[in-house]
Amino acid sequence: MLLRDGSYFCIMQAKGPIGIFDSGYGGLTVLKEIIKELPQYNYLYLGDNARAPYGSRTFETVYHYTLQCLQWFFKQECPLVIVACNTASAKALRTIQQNDLHQFGSSKRVLGVIRPTTEIIGNLTSSKHIGILGTTGTVQSLSYVIEIEKFFPKVKVFQEACPMWVPLIENNEHLSAGADYFVKKHLDNLLHQSSNIDTVLLACTHYPLLISKIMQYLPTNIKIISQGNIVAESLKRYLNRHPEIEINCTKTGETNFFTTDSVDDFNKHAGIFFEKSIQSKHVNIPEE
Ligand code: DGL
Repeated sequence: MLLRDGSYFCIMQAKGPIGIFDSGYGGLTVLKEIIKELPQYNYLYLGDNARAPYGSRTFETVYHYTLQCLQWFFKQECPLVIVACNTASAKALRTIQQNDLHQFGSSKRVLGVIRPTTEIIGNLTSSKHIGILGTTGTVQSLSYVIEIEKFFPKVKVFQEACPMWVPLIENNEHLSAGADYFVKKHLDNLLHQSSNIDTVLLACTHYPLLISKIMQYLPTNIKIISQGNIVAESLKRYLNRHPEIEINCTKTGETNFFTTDSVDDFNKHAGIFFEKSIQSKHVNIPEE
């Protein structure tokens, strides 16, 4: 801030970790890639497992839950939170950015996973026909259709909601024979919408866990895109462009994990997503 005598008065901001949020475990597939790209920062992961999945919930509920979780992150001094959940990014992010963020202070930021993906996805298709696989909430919001149209007006977008995929993954049934039925069913439904689809986006951060089964049922000429590295690269560019935010991020390379449900379940299950063992802590949201 410039003072009347021409000198500068600097308001000291508390520093904190970068927050990574998901309804459950899916955001860990994004966090893993972010740490690979930006290992120097501290991260705070929160899975709202007690209230997951978000995918079939109303706009109001997803907005309410996401806002409560963001309040918790900002109380932990996070300067920046990545909503590593497509459902929450589609249903709650814009409203929170426009109406609620200011109450946490002018230097707080929240970013989602849809914008970084839609900014580049049109560059990955030759046929200009893209398939989107997501939760019912993400698909119904039409966020991908609207955002891709803005960046790549010539690209045609086809969507398929896969409401059983997150429950299969959250219940560790994603590699079972039963999962094949639901994987094949939704891929067939998507491909029936257009025979020209050459790129399929996994628009749910849980879905990379199903990649082996998805590969089994998709023709080999179709590219499968997951979001982890797209979001990681976009965050790197964001921090370069915003030194005023970057300076508030702590940098000792430490990551802490929180869950709103059972710590034992989280520790057991999260390793499958994160590919490393995890020791989490419990938090009630909203805090009592
Ligand atoms: N991982 C979340 C996403 O990217 C969704 C899971 C859920 O339904 O809660 O959409």
